[in-house]
Amino acid sequence: ESDEDRVPRPPVVTVMGHVDHGKTRLLDAIRKSNVIEGEHGGITQHIGAYQVSAEHEGEDREITFIDTPGHEAFTAMRARGAKVTDIAVLVVAADDGVMPQTVEALNHAQAANVPIVVAVNKIDKDGANPDKIKGQLTEYGLVPEEYGGDTMFVPVSALRGEGIDDLLEAVLLTADAALELTANPDKDARGIAIEANLDKGRGAVATVLVQSGTLEVGDAIVAGVAHGRVRAMFDENGDKLKTAGPSRPVQVLGLSTVPRAGDTFIVTDDERTARQIAEKREAADRAALLAKRRKRVSLEDLD
Ligand code: GTP
Ligand code: NA
Ligand code: MG
Repeated sequence: ESDEDRVPRPPVVTVMGHVDHGKTRLLDAIRKSNVIEGEHGGITQHIGAYQVSAEHEGEDREITFIDTPGHEAFTAMRARGAKVTDIAVLVVAADDGVMPQTVEALNHAQAANVPIVVAVNKIDKDGANPDKIKGQLTEYGLVPEEYGGDTMFVPVSALRGEGIDDLLEAVLLTADAALELTANPDKDARGIAIEANLDKGRGAVATVLVQSGTLEVGDAIVAGVAHGRVRAMFDENGDKLKTAGPSRPVQVLGLSTVPRAGDTFIVTDDERTARQIAEKREAADRAALLAKRRKRVSLEDLD
């Protein structure tokens, strides 16, 4: 594969930050739909992933967003070596300021070498103090432009839908300035499982992020120990898709079981190959588990 086969792809953005600082509400404002009302107790149960379109320098540009329950999923995925995100949006509530999970989130992003855009949220609230947050984050190496740094701080109110366009603009500016995001769409897809669940009627439902190539209905795939043929694909609005290119998150039906968040998926020549790969992995997982158990038993013998 040569560089010529690669074409620009949308940035993949993870929204991170302390509990209740407004990650889901912010994504909700970005989508202008209402995810939060459907959530159990307003706490994110699992990751959602979707794409939005924004105008930037006279062009329509796509951005892929991933919501996470805190940063656990991000950590779990990174532990498995999965690099999912190109840019992190760090949400900090302007009335609450930098909190322990804010610091953990920025540490993860910095360790993964992922550029950070800071969304200073809840600026509508009494006691909101964006300048305090700039000062606090400067200590962690996130220095705003007006202090001579290169981190963009965008004041937003997810509740009122204010500052959203500026935030999308900042994301695209960061992508264009710091990253060269390209992928080859003209080959078999590969990517990462973002979340999955077992649905009574539909069986295993997996949200996957295509990172390169194009996924097509009918493709044989293997994701971790899950295998099968793509029976149907849906976008975030529940619309059926026939194909999904680079940076597109898509719900996939047709897998034998649920993959884990962070599992990579690949397209194989046929279903049999997919099954064989999955079975080999399952056998390897079992062997590793047995070895661990044996080790524990022999250590207990020593006591
Ligand atoms: P977790 O997923 O549980 O970590 O929370 P979260 O970061 O996704 O926060 P969420 O979006 O659930 O918002 C938490 C609370 O803050 C909700 O009651 C929101 O309505 C409220 N909230 C979010 N953004 C704003 C804002 O801009 N202004 C005000 N006043 N309230 C907000
Ligand atoms: Na919440
Ligand atoms: Mg949430």
